[in-house]
Amino acid sequence: MTAINIRDLIKTYADPQSGTLVEILNIAELPIKKGDHIALKGTSGSGKTTLLHCISGMLLPDSGSVEVLSTEITRLSEPARDRFRANHIGYIFQSFNLLEGFSALENVLLGMQFADKKHPRSRAEDLLERTGLSNRLHNRPGQLSVGQQQRVCIARALANDPEIILADEPTGSLDPRTSAEVLRLIREVSDGKTLVVVTHEEHVLNQFDIVIDLEHLNQALTA
Ligand SMILES: Nc1ncnc2c1ncn2[C@@H]1O[C@H](COP(=O)(O)OP(=O)(O)OP(=O)(O)O)[C@@H](O)[C@H]1O
Ligand SMILES: [Mg+2]
Repeated sequence: MTAINIRDLIKTYADPQSGTLVEILNIAELPIKKGDHIALKGTSGSGKTTLLHCISGMLLPDSGSVEVLSTEITRLSEPARDRFRANHIGYIFQSFNLLEGFSALENVLLGMQFADKKHPRSRAEDLLERTGLSNRLHNRPGQLSVGQQQRVCIARALANDPEIILADEPTGSLDPRTSAEVLRLIREVSDGKTLVVVTHEEHVLNQFDIVIDLEHLNQALTA
């Protein structure tokens, strides 16, 4: 069973200066099996974040098919894609995207607002406890270390018990020890789920049996 299946995906961006369309992604085929843990590598600017945004439905490709859990998400309206993501995908952002005016607990609770299944408030506390933040529930992001903020993101990604976790360079801004701990945590909480981790760090890549090199996969001409 495939969790994610991409076919003939093309994504272009308009060059802000010239207006010319630049092809960023051109992927003939990328199937990811349910339950697989995959590392996605590629140099800076190769389109890794863009690809995760297409898989999560935050961005629509110019053409091609993005099937997630047997749903062709490119055919869904934007609100339907947002809802699909809330129900099925946990996203750990490269730049965290935590809301500064809200505590760690509130950030996780907010993530629980948009899913169909309503979990009890205690789930958010349990998840923050699981990520090692039981004594930081009421701290705002600015009152947390970078590693702790990343743990809030992990808890938020798990808020609705998604089948798929997408993590964009989750250890990029952490020291080696914290990075190893955070990666271990992500692997652990993704047990039984499909996990795609974007990284270019060797020590992270080494831990994955399946490594996909976006530059090999991508046939984009001008990226
Ligand atoms: N909104 C946009 N408009 C125009 N070009 C964009 C836009 N977003 C991204 N790009 C371009 O698309 C390319 C891929 O960007 P992307 O963020 O996916 O790369 P990445 O592989 O995640 O890089 P990094 O490792 O630095 O995070 C880059 O060349 C970038 O300049
Ligand atoms: Mg990126």
